[in-house]
Amino acid sequence: MAGLILKNKSMALCLVLVICSFGLCFVSTHAELQRFEQPARTEGTLSFLVLGDWGRKGAFNQSEVAVQMGRIGEKLDIDFVVSTGDNFYDNGLTGNQDKAFVESFTQIYTANSLQKQWYSVLGNHDYRGNAEAQLSQQLRKIDSRWLCLRSFIVNAELAEIFFVDTTPFVQSYFTKAEGHTYDWRGIGSPRSYIANLIKDLKLALSESKAKWKIVVGHHAIRSIGHHGDTEELVSKLHPILKANNVDFYMNGHDHCLEHISDRESNTVSN
Ligand SMILES: *[C@@H]1O[C@H](CO)[C@@H](O)[C@H](O)[C@H]1NC(C)=O
Repeated sequence: MAGLILKNKSMALCLVLVICSFGLCFVSTHAELQRFEQPARTEGTLSFLVLGDWGRKGAFNQSEVAVQMGRIGEKLDIDFVVSTGDNFYDNGLTGNQDKAFVESFTQIYTANSLQKQWYSVLGNHDYRGNAEAQLSQQLRKIDSRWLCLRSFIVNAELAEIFFVDTTPFVQSYFTKAEGHTYDWRGIGSPRSYIANLIKDLKLALSESKAKWKIVVGHHAIRSIGHHGDTEELVSKLHPILKANNVDFYMNGHDHCLEHISDRESNTVSN
């Protein structure tokens, strides 16, 4: 989990706390990415927590991390929370009535400071269950903090955050699923799904006038961790971030803290 405070560009990005985690679809129609407005509460600053790979019904120290998130969330007076996916282990949710939603989310993140909007993407473990359940309006009725979509944009004034559905990029999930089943409903042909997504993202990034441009996905682009680089993101996503001066990319998946920068571009990934 990481806490971020963004100020104007002249000030340094402040990474305040990191605790290692435990371990509408845009298919055939070429729709623009859905946008959400998140007005800043304090002028000139924005702070939020980022976590990934978390839903364990409190086990694997999830509850302990949640308590610390509550404390730091209060200290930073956060505006919202970002989840980089793998929201529910081991295999996502079974449906929108799955008790794991309440047991791993509502009943865990109970601190006052965490009663804010959560913006989530799906991870590969979420695709192993009923992926569409996590996107459903029904969950928002159970807990109004929840908002999970495949790819979307949050305009938080000082920053624009571009959420990218990275799981369909990974070819091995289609070709050698290793006994897992993935819920690819709503994806159609992965080739055109990715081509459309890249097109929409390129356009949105090029039009963005935000001081901070941040991209969020589940899989790492580059990583020295367990899973290593995600080649498909190195070849298809990284060039777009570079060309559009994205400030940083934030991801989960590898369950460890890394801060990677690149001599040839300004994009930093976490
Ligand atoms: C929980 O955290 C403690 C202290 O860091 C660690 O010793 C223990 O292995 C963790 N438990 C699990 C299940 O990860």
